[in-house]
Amino acid sequence: MKGIILAGGRGTRLYPATRVISKHLLPIHDKPMIYYSLSTLMLAHIRDVLLISTPEDLPSYRRLLGDGSDFGIRISYTEQAEPAGIAQAFMLGAEFIGDSPVALILGDNVFYGEGFGALLRQAAQQTRGATVFGYRVHNPEEFGVAVFDPQDRVIRIEEKPARPPSSFAITGLYMYDRDVVEIARGLRPSARGELEITDVNNAYIARGDLRLIKLGRGIAWLDTGTHEALQSASEFVAAVQGRQGLRIACLEEVAFRHGFIGADQLKAAADRYASSDYGRYLLRIWEHERD
Ligand code: DAU
Repeated sequence: MKGIILAGGRGTRLYPATRVISKHLLPIHDKPMIYYSLSTLMLAHIRDVLLISTPEDLPSYRRLLGDGSDFGIRISYTEQAEPAGIAQAFMLGAEFIGDSPVALILGDNVFYGEGFGALLRQAAQQTRGATVFGYRVHNPEEFGVAVFDPQDRVIRIEEKPARPPSSFAITGLYMYDRDVVEIARGLRPSARGELEITDVNNAYIARGDLRLIKLGRGIAWLDTGTHEALQSASEFVAAVQGRQGLRIACLEEVAFRHGFIGADQLKAAADRYASSDYGRYLLRIWEHERD
């Protein structure tokens, strides 16, 4: 399975903080926001990644992540000239996707929890249809929301409904078979002028081909849409890391533990970041695990 990270948009809800920097480069505690979505793809064992962002911001992502070889993966880049909607990612990425199944993650989505990696790897085995992830939230009206029938099967998804039909938001992580490109090509812009990911998902539901996996209490799906939410996400990461001494979304650690890079590359990253806590953390892993 290939992976796409969508990290464009104007970030106007976070102005002026995002006037001259992409929202997805703002730090969540100790690392750029984009690390979290990229680590999610890596946990799913996706090693071929396309990052889509604005023409202004792409150079920063290239500087930060390069060709992906520091993490034992391949990263390529494509521009989204205007934020015409999440589903546009599949047209922009059509050549990259080719005949493969593909996962899309929104660059502002942060997941964390015991067993999440295993769940992702299992979900990524599916090569037919679509898989989406539902999460119980107190404010479903701010998201895509699942509608269930009495047998708890998802029959529709509504985008930001004024009266939410359930408490289950659809998170910004989606897995599709290769048909997604054709489906996206057939979409018309919504009332707000965007190609909606919810319309893609409803097309899969109409084919009887969408699977919804509910993420339970043990998994955190954090919001980063407002300054307050961003602050809370930083506090969450700081609290978990501070208590456990383990880092969330440390890309070199994920790469090393999953065999994408070896001890030498881990040490090189530790040296590169030697004067930060992040670098000292990598060095500790290298010292303990190099054999
Ligand atoms: O986070 C999950 C939610 O994401 C889903 O529940 C919704 O169904 C889905 O529509 C989306 O809702 P948002 O209101 O969060 O979408 P937003 O327009 O804020 O964009 C989400 C991310 O995607 C954000 O980081 C910016 C990026 N983006 C968005 C659009 C529309 C792009 O890079 N390009 C775009 O054209």
